[in-house]
Amino acid sequence: MSKFTLAEFAGIFPGVAGPKQASGLLPRCNIRAQNPLFSGGAGAPPDGQGIMSTMMPAPRLATRIRHLWNGGRLIRLASEALEMERRDTDKINKKQPGTGPFLPGKDDELELVATSLRRRRIARGFENARVLVTGGSGGIGAAIVQRLASEGAHVALTYGRHAAKAEETVQAMQEFGGRTLSIQADLTQADAVRAAVQQAASEFGGLDILVHSAGIGVFGHILELSDEDLDRALSVNMRGTYVAIQEALRHMQAGGRIVIIGSGTADRVPLPGNSLYAMTKSGLIGLVRAVARDIAPSGITINNIQPGPIDTPMNPADSEFAKTICDQFMAIRRYGTGEEVASMVAYVAGKEADFLTGATLTIDGGYAA
Ligand SMILES: NC(=O)c1ccc[n+]([C@@H]2O[C@H](COP(=O)([O-])OP(=O)(O)OC[C@H]3O[C@@H](n4cnc5c(N)ncnc54)[C@H](OP(=O)(O)O)[C@@H]3O)[C@@H](O)[C@H]2O)c1
Repeated sequence: MSKFTLAEFAGIFPGVAGPKQASGLLPRCNIRAQNPLFSGGAGAPPDGQGIMSTMMPAPRLATRIRHLWNGGRLIRLASEALEMERRDTDKINKKQPGTGPFLPGKDDELELVATSLRRRRIARGFENARVLVTGGSGGIGAAIVQRLASEGAHVALTYGRHAAKAEETVQAMQEFGGRTLSIQADLTQADAVRAAVQQAASEFGGLDILVHSAGIGVFGHILELSDEDLDRALSVNMRGTYVAIQEALRHMQAGGRIVIIGSGTADRVPLPGNSLYAMTKSGLIGLVRAVARDIAPSGITINNIQPGPIDTPMNPADSEFAKTICDQFMAIRRYGTGEEVASMVAYVAGKEADFLTGATLTIDGGYAA
């Protein structure tokens, strides 16, 4: 039986479906001929009809997909994909004439649709790029891994304590055909950071892109935080970042890209108890500015992306804290997603961002507006 996962949709429609959704494997791709989504018509399909219909594993996933439909993005992108897939569609229709563009219902037909969509993704902007994403077991890191892998990159990721989450991310990206590598590294240790970068570069024969997403929040009133807390925050958020950049540069050539995940919440609107987080994340702004000048002659860029509140294990969107933040601070009254941050990373790390360096860019739903 054909298996069609949301990870594939992430590859076909980047930014629409992501790794969080990809954790739910769709047993079958339930495409219906009368569905406006696949007959190219406008408007949202009625509930209960559509590519994923009743087979979604979690109510939350169902809500998400319905939301996407209502926004019309999936429909539009699917229509574009249909154009690209016309030849395959004709092939299917020859089997069952007059039944609409796609009428899978038999497993081999489902497989044909899935395979053809897999083969021709809309965007392959990172074909064969050699990428290292630190913190790839985290919410934002996993989304970045998935996005770049879906566009053809070979991706190594690092993780600290969560091997299972790293493995899940690796499994999901394997469907995109690039090479994958998972590296355990305690980023409080400079040697471990160096070794992880070296391992990725040695496996791939160099590095084109470093995305440094690993980070920790150490929170508490300044009078309650210990020297150990201070060391931990400094070692992961600052020294780990510095050493990762330094080592990555030794393996990069002109055209290389370094993207750091800072924090807009920490830098621009730190809340009580954020002294360590604010200090360590704000320091990255100066780091990126200065390093940009060192490395511009080598044709390598470095930029800092500052997310606002993003729904991840570090900052879950279903907490009481999140509700307060959404009610009182957010211009767009919801948390962002890892996929939204990954979209910005894809631009900054991509070929169109040649003239962008030393910058700190915010993606925060208007948290600091
Ligand atoms: N979520 C937000 O609202 C938000 C907002 C602004 C900025 N950010 C920043 O975005 C980045 C990613 O955060 P996230 O929300 O995705 O958090 P997350 O889900 O907690 O992920 C954090 C990642 O960093 C890794 N990490 C942390 N300490 C480590 C250590 N000592 N050694 C090795 N790896 C370590 C974790 O690995 P393991 O889990 O395997 O240990 C994990 O992969 C962080 O830099 C964070 O500061 C997040």
